[in-house]
Amino acid sequence: MTTRRGFLGLLAGAAVVGATGFVVVNRPSASGLLTSARLPPPFAVPLPLPTVARPARVTADADYYSVVQRVSDVEILPGVKTQIWGYDGLFPGPLFRLQSGRQAIVQLRNSLDVPTSTHLHGGVTPSSSDGYPTDLVVPGGTKEYVYPLQQRAATLWYHDHRMDYTAPQVWRGLAGMAIVSSPEEENLGLPSGDHDVPLMICDRAFGADGSFVYPAAHHGPGVTEAFANGVLGDVILVNGAPWPVFEVDASLYRFRVLNASNARRYSLSLSQGELVQIGSDSGLLGRPVRHKELPVSPGERFDVVVDFGVFPVGTEVTLLNTLDSGGTGQVMRFKVVRPGKRSALPERLADVSALDGAVTTRTFDFRSSSGDGMTMWTINGSPFSVTDSLAQPKLGTVERWRFSSDFHHPVHLHLAHFQVVKRGAGKPLPSDAGWKDTVDVRPYETVEVLARFDGFKGRYMMHCHNLEHEDMAMMANFDVG
Ligand code: C2O
Ligand code: CU
Ligand code: CU
Repeated sequence: MTTRRGFLGLLAGAAVVGATGFVVVNRPSASGLLTSARLPPPFAVPLPLPTVARPARVTADADYYSVVQRVSDVEILPGVKTQIWGYDGLFPGPLFRLQSGRQAIVQLRNSLDVPTSTHLHGGVTPSSSDGYPTDLVVPGGTKEYVYPLQQRAATLWYHDHRMDYTAPQVWRGLAGMAIVSSPEEENLGLPSGDHDVPLMICDRAFGADGSFVYPAAHHGPGVTEAFANGVLGDVILVNGAPWPVFEVDASLYRFRVLNASNARRYSLSLSQGELVQIGSDSGLLGRPVRHKELPVSPGERFDVVVDFGVFPVGTEVTLLNTLDSGGTGQVMRFKVVRPGKRSALPERLADVSALDGAVTTRTFDFRSSSGDGMTMWTINGSPFSVTDSLAQPKLGTVERWRFSSDFHHPVHLHLAHFQVVKRGAGKPLPSDAGWKDTVDVRPYETVEVLARFDGFKGRYMMHCHNLEHEDMAMMANFDVG
């Protein structure tokens, strides 16, 4: 058993030369904070709800959608316009309401003047529709993405995944949510309709004219060196609105929380009351888990229920981020404006049996490296290479994957869903429960997961979901065979 101190000691002298000659050094520090020219007032605008995507055509076997990626000007800060790049010109993009087991086919047209690649995060998707970073839709081009959705009901999201430019393209607005439902889940009597609310949380910074500010490197991909650890904004947006207010009745609400930030982590907490987690990245938990504070790293989703029925009408409840103080220490506010129906949450939600039977163990080390005065982020000592493959799991098997790190790295697997079984020498966090596709690996920590490689053979990837790290090469291929 390695103690934390022993592990740090081991790392202190470690400088590993990776396959490419990059020197892997131990150099964690804080991410870079951008400051806006002026801050909008908090709690001054209502929470927007994303536009629901309507299928263009419905057949016996599939729902067909068509989506255009385009530039548009939207009002995010009161009184000024922000130019965004959006799916259908929207930020967040349209909300897809999908059914487990029912195929969705999306005809995507790229009307931007840059290439894109769209990934359905959490989707069990054939490799050809998975949004591989070099599987580009060129300006003016189209692509048909096929999503079989043979998977559990869950909160998914989609976003740009262009090689080297994911972070700036998501920052400009290319992200949205998709909710997969199933009859089993609908029969549980969880809050539904206008009591089932997606919350896409992200941070941004704005120039005086309302434009998004981003510290892009002067030449080529990536960011200026001061932001190599990740870009943080000073304005918190929920569904694209700064610190919004949501009026509720005094009853149960279900919130689908997504951290769509490039690099910001949150620890969510209510100024009064508690967050009851019912689901994770890949669907419902076995039973509800109560949290005073809920850590949420980039890419993760948490399905939570809040009971406003315990508060008198007139109560204001603020959703806080306890990792910060001041503006970024707040996320949004709820106002109880009407009485509501009292109802209770079921104690049993879904069958989630613990995975076992791993056929092999693999280790992946996530670490920064410098070469030519430039930061790169590596996995097992190497920056991403389109041609290399770090693992070849067999379709239908379970493997034990061990992630270690020098920093906060939210590690995400495409295709495969997993269960977190260990953090360091200890148990997973309460918030690690259930089926997941993204897990925050904290500085100098080892996290062990059991992953099941189901669905499709082909090339997939894993990467850090800190989008600046991802663009600076912290990705790897694996091939399911
Ligand atoms: Cu949400 Cu490969 O990412
Ligand atoms: Cu993904
Ligand atoms: Cu990272």
